[in-house]
Amino acid sequence: MKKIGIIVGSLREQSYNRMIAATVPELGLAEEAAYEYISIADLPLYNADVDVGDGPEAVRLYREAIRGADGLLIVSPEYNSGIPGVLKNALDWASTPTRTAALIHKPVGIVGSTPGPKGTILSQQQIRQTLEATQAWVLPFQKMYISQVMDKVDAERGRLTDETTLKYLKRYVQTLLGWIDQAKGLQ
Ligand code: FNR
Repeated sequence: MKKIGIIVGSLREQSYNRMIAATVPELGLAEEAAYEYISIADLPLYNADVDVGDGPEAVRLYREAIRGADGLLIVSPEYNSGIPGVLKNALDWASTPTRTAALIHKPVGIVGSTPGPKGTILSQQQIRQTLEATQAWVLPFQKMYISQVMDKVDAERGRLTDETTLKYLKRYVQTLLGWIDQAKGLQ
């Protein structure tokens, strides 16, 4: 049984990406994985002046949650052709201290959804670039872009409902679980 930490790159309550994330535990992989949502809502803006010792309490808890996960799944929107600031801030907090940061050698998958046509391609490029700088191990051989997301969810239930996308999402999470095993051999 692997533990997947899920980070949503939107703070919005009715976030489509939160709906995608909420669907992950219901994909029929309960025997292989358990999930924990890792909130980034309470993190302060990154400031090296307060990044000493364990740092602020919200940061300590956030880093501890990442350390406790076998792998991470980031589910994020795209803002202005790039990574949402709140997510960049969160990844920066998990990139320090330099040699013992929570993200070092952490297997990570990236999923993104948008009402637009391009599926968060540009955002995911920047998320990947940031994660590579932190020495996280980003799933290299599969991508998951969800476009026109408003047509693929039941917004009232807050869940992904489009059959094809559900199939791809399940396959993506299965690939991430396999990547966690492969990544162990990289250490
Ligand atoms: C957006 N949105 C957006 N969408 C996209 O596909 N590419 C983009 O570059 C942007 N840029 C952008 C900037 C800002 C400031 C906002 C607020 C929004 C639209 C975005 O995909 C949409 O609001 C999503 O619904 C946001 O994701 P959540 O909150 O629903 O998960």
